[in-house]
Amino acid sequence: MRVEDPKIVAALPELGVELRSRASLAELTSLGIGGTTDLFRIKKHEGIPGLLNLLDSNRIPHKFLGGGSNLLVGDGELPWVVLQLVKPEPEVVLEGNFAQVDAAADLGRTITYCAKNDLGGMEGLIGVPGTVGGALRMNAGAYGMQIGSYVREVKLYRAAERKIETLKGDQISFEYRHTSFAPDDMMLAVKLELPAKPFKEILQGIRICNEKRRSSQPLGQKSAGCIFKNPPGASAGRMIDELGLKGLNVGDARVSDRHANFFVNAGKASAKEMLTLIADVRDRVAKAFGVTLENEVVVWNA
Ligand code: EPU
Repeated sequence: MRVEDPKIVAALPELGVELRSRASLAELTSLGIGGTTDLFRIKKHEGIPGLLNLLDSNRIPHKFLGGGSNLLVGDGELPWVVLQLVKPEPEVVLEGNFAQVDAAADLGRTITYCAKNDLGGMEGLIGVPGTVGGALRMNAGAYGMQIGSYVREVKLYRAAERKIETLKGDQISFEYRHTSFAPDDMMLAVKLELPAKPFKEILQGIRICNEKRRSSQPLGQKSAGCIFKNPPGASAGRMIDELGLKGLNVGDARVSDRHANFFVNAGKASAKEMLTLIADVRDRVAKAFGVTLENEVVVWNA
């Protein structure tokens, strides 16, 4: 979608917003799939209510992009614009056991920075790509931990109230790959409370998790992590593997040979191909196991 109205374009600098025309979502997502649209890069949180008013009053639909690491975007010219936070300097401010982190901060860099300052707890999430905001929204977890356990406060733009608010950790529910935030809430910043641990000890935990991840997941390939959530008490990856579906492909969209719940873009896969593969695997699992797998990957299809 193109935004060319000079009145809209002229209002952006004052809101702290930079417009990039015809951005490629394939370049902004870890799957490397997605068409083009205009990208609004937000440099100050306080400009968001004004930006949203401007877009809504001009009937311009929008979506809010985090790190693009758990996302499958449709092909071609997209019928909505995309908003994304620009990383501020610094991304993380520490005070005792608390880390105040901007939603745009890279998750891995945040974990490492906290570790160097003897704050641990999130070792399991090392290697999970994406932003802190994205991890927060879906309550990212791995190796027995989840980010929600450390959240004490969240600053967010509440679309329903059209304003920026701060919620306490106990006002938010964090479940397996799910939170109580509304779909159109935008994560802006989070205050984490992390256990004090010597850097060397945290590093040891990070090395173990890295090793487990390297041995079981296709890290060097374009993917969105796990495609499906695990059904209660089962592993989607194991079920897909048991059906012999590793390597199954639709064009360049392929079930990973290493971990069957990772679907990779092995070249120039389109969203259509990836969606066909997802639907096919879901069908086969439903027929064989009587379980309908739910997407973990977020799909933005026109
Ligand atoms: N397995 C297979 N074949 C496969 C994949 C897995 O037999 O192709 C078996 C494994 O051998 C193991 C069991 O299934 O016995 C579970 O596998 P794994 O330990 O890899 O965990 P998972 O349930 O497949 C979950 C998360 C991952 C997270 C890992 C480690 C989900 C959907 N996935 O995977 O998260 O990294 O545990 O904690 O919850 C993600 O969310 O994107 C993600 C990658």
